[in-house]
Amino acid sequence: MEKETFLTAIDVGTTKVCTIVARLAPGKDPEIVASGIVPSQGLKKATVVDIEGAANAVRASVELAEGEAGMKVPWAYVGVTGSHIEAMNQWTAIEVSNHGSVITPRDMAVAHVSSVSSEPSDNRQLLHAIPRLYSLDGLKGIRNPVGMHAQNLQVETHVIQGAASLMANLVRSVEKAGVKVKGMVLEPLASGEAVLTPEEREMGVVMVDIGGGTSDIAVFKEGAIFHTAVIPVGGHQFSNDISMAFDTPFLAAEEAKVKYGHALPETVDMREELDLPVLNGITQIKVSRRELCQIVKERAHELLELVRIKLEQAEIKDISGTKLVLTGGTANLPGLEELARQTLSGHVRVGVPSGVKGLPEKLVNPAYATSVGMLLWCSSREAVHDNHVNGKGGPLALYSQFIRWLTSIMRAK
Ligand SMILES: Nc1ncnc2c1ncn2[C@@H]1O[C@H](COP(=O)(O)OP(=O)(O)OP(=O)(O)O)[C@@H](O)[C@H]1O
Ligand SMILES: [Mg+2]
Repeated sequence: MEKETFLTAIDVGTTKVCTIVARLAPGKDPEIVASGIVPSQGLKKATVVDIEGAANAVRASVELAEGEAGMKVPWAYVGVTGSHIEAMNQWTAIEVSNHGSVITPRDMAVAHVSSVSSEPSDNRQLLHAIPRLYSLDGLKGIRNPVGMHAQNLQVETHVIQGAASLMANLVRSVEKAGVKVKGMVLEPLASGEAVLTPEEREMGVVMVDIGGGTSDIAVFKEGAIFHTAVIPVGGHQFSNDISMAFDTPFLAAEEAKVKYGHALPETVDMREELDLPVLNGITQIKVSRRELCQIVKERAHELLELVRIKLEQAEIKDISGTKLVLTGGTANLPGLEELARQTLSGHVRVGVPSGVKGLPEKLVNPAYATSVGMLLWCSSREAVHDNHVNGKGGPLALYSQFIRWLTSIMRAK
């Protein structure tokens, strides 16, 4: 009998660090056995700016999870995001080994390795190379060409790269906390895993994870990832605007935003007021809640416009008719879903992680989409480079990643 194993995922966010430990047993769904959540330190817009601070937060989060699990966490997968992330889809033509005969798994492996064999440029590191679709003799849209007849095979790959130095700082922070980094996962891909349905991916969906420091976009089409992008604006900017407007400390602004914020000020009673400390912290001022919500709305509106621009830049047409799923902590902001409906798409919902065995109530919140999604991504697909922590992820790593992916789709057939 195969032994059960454990998998740990750490979401090192701008506002919180969340460690999740899950039990994996052959033939069974992963089961969450422990989690540890602490406020983050040392990150700005999802990028490590203070390794010592980040390491302290990771250590505290891991220790909480270890205490709950009753075991040490030797290694973990880590989420990565930030405006240094770049993604593109590229088509690569491959001659099949035996003209006119059926496509073999080997042909597909060669296609995949060739499609991403060029080394990333200086200071760039390959994060993921995900096969999307295939084309056989010019016929596009094939999902699994194994066993089909063709002379020419083309593969479309979604290639994601990031800044090697920034990713190395993240790895160093986690390893300084005593945990070896086994691999990295792009955060919006992980979030999509936790909050999107297979039907949404099939029909086409835009997911936006609005965290504290960034808003991460993942677009799925025809069941596969089509576009990923990161906007360096998140909930922190909302709080910062309140702090500046009312001359109140950031923490007081953050608290007021979470307690009284609404993205539709017109729905808030004009007479409602709240107390805010002014910068010296000694005096309190009375502030109109509607006025505070107006500031929140302006920032939310601007962010949704940035999402629109990013989508238009990626030539994603008909945004108003495309399903939009909002997640991340800022998706908790009342009225945001409706504002997005009025400005971006007629089909909006808030995505909350669900359907995972052992999911504790505290993780049933959009803020944990990435954390829960990382666990699902790593346990089911394992589409993570084993060696990209130490190198740039060469063809060998891509080959083994591809074989794991191929095995998973063959099993699913
Ligand atoms: N009810 C609420 N109303 C408004 N904002 C909220 C609410 N609850 C949480 N937030 C905001 O969500 C943000 C944190 O979200 P999340 O936990 O997803 O961020 P993160 O993962 O740490 O950051 P990032 O992914 O950007 O690195 C904070 O800015 C917080 O103020
Ligand atoms: Mg996040």
